[in-house]
Amino acid sequence: MATTTAPHSTSTELNRQATMMQAIVQDRYGSADALEFQAVAQPQIGDDEVLVRVHAAGVQIGDWHVMTGQPYLMRIMGFGFRAPKARVRGMDVAGIVAAVGQNVTGFQVGDEVFGTGDGSFAEYARARANKLAPKPANLTFAQAATLPTSAWVALQALRNAGGIKPGQKVLIVGASGGVGIFAVQLAKSFGADVTGVCSTTKMDMVRSIGADHVIDYTHEDFNRGRQRYDLILDMVGNHSLAQLRRALTPRGTLVLVGGEGGGRLIGGVGRSLRALVVSPFVNQRLRMLLALANTADLQKLKELTEAGQVTPVIDRTYPLSEGPAAVRYLHEGHPRGKIVITVRDADRRSAHENNG
Ligand SMILES: NC(=O)c1ccc[n+]([C@@H]2O[C@H](COP(=O)([O-])OP(=O)(O)OC[C@H]3O[C@@H](n4cnc5c(N)ncnc54)[C@H](OP(=O)(O)O)[C@@H]3O)[C@@H](O)[C@H]2O)c1
Repeated sequence: MATTTAPHSTSTELNRQATMMQAIVQDRYGSADALEFQAVAQPQIGDDEVLVRVHAAGVQIGDWHVMTGQPYLMRIMGFGFRAPKARVRGMDVAGIVAAVGQNVTGFQVGDEVFGTGDGSFAEYARARANKLAPKPANLTFAQAATLPTSAWVALQALRNAGGIKPGQKVLIVGASGGVGIFAVQLAKSFGADVTGVCSTTKMDMVRSIGADHVIDYTHEDFNRGRQRYDLILDMVGNHSLAQLRRALTPRGTLVLVGGEGGGRLIGGVGRSLRALVVSPFVNQRLRMLLALANTADLQKLKELTEAGQVTPVIDRTYPLSEGPAAVRYLHEGHPRGKIVITVRDADRRSAHENNG
């Protein structure tokens, strides 16, 4: 049984009292209409876990996948066959440590942290200690909550799968999306010449975060131009492997990060598996990405953020009670930056001030 310590209650009290909190919960798969704002019991933490008093939660496409249960493959992978196993939605989090499990040595009550956990669309969330890091000192909680999944996916795609090098020509397909915003900035921090692909209304934003060149996908297909790229990150999934390979240099690297095509059953996995099969037989490197959270990468993102090389872009913030609207907007609203749920009033105010 986990031992916990909390600022205003002993561990025994914390575990005995089913202290209630507000959260966004769901009992069936479906659209954002399946989400409800409800009072539920605060989570209990395990020996390697941290209880985070949530200040802000980042909304990302993974939340939409868990909400809908699509692609169906993820239900078989353990998210719950008929309904989501975990009732409280949300993963990405920034907040203050409220309690720590008995094996946790790196954090103590009162530390400001960011990372990923279980059920961050709530007043309290639990997170494994190895998926958290100290919050960047120069960011608000709302800004810090935008980083976790999107930014480490971008980092691992460029550095681990892509082997990015200074001076390379890098193409970011989906440059205006959650992952793309960070991929553009991180590729610049690695010294690359960056081209971002996005829609017309987002070109200025993609330029403003550092892209050297921007292609408007509504007017031009990068695949039909003469330019060849050393590294392509594809977050969209609407080009075939052959089309993407045509835009690569003869020894270039393609990293398939995601894409919402491919059908309800397996999503974009089919294209990624084809890339793995083809790669050994061609000079180009074709990679799929399976990004995993870890403290070292969060720490790296903290350093880059504090050095001014990565700056979060927030489109909208929503109060916790409007969590369903936040997820709906992420999927249907074509956001111009990240969506954040602010759980404490002060964070909502500071998020608005920082966004102008
Ligand atoms: N491999 C992994 O470990 C991993 C981890 C996390 C996420 N992912 C996947 O990565 C993908 C991207 O995630 P995300 O959070 O960045 O999603 P997102 O925020 O929904 O961004 C998608 C972006 O793609 C843009 N877009 C749509 N059609 C386009 C086109 N033809 N060309 C260029 N851009 C286009 C959209 O812009 P408009 O709104 O202007 O159309 C939007 O900005 C998702 O499929 C997600 O599941 C994979």
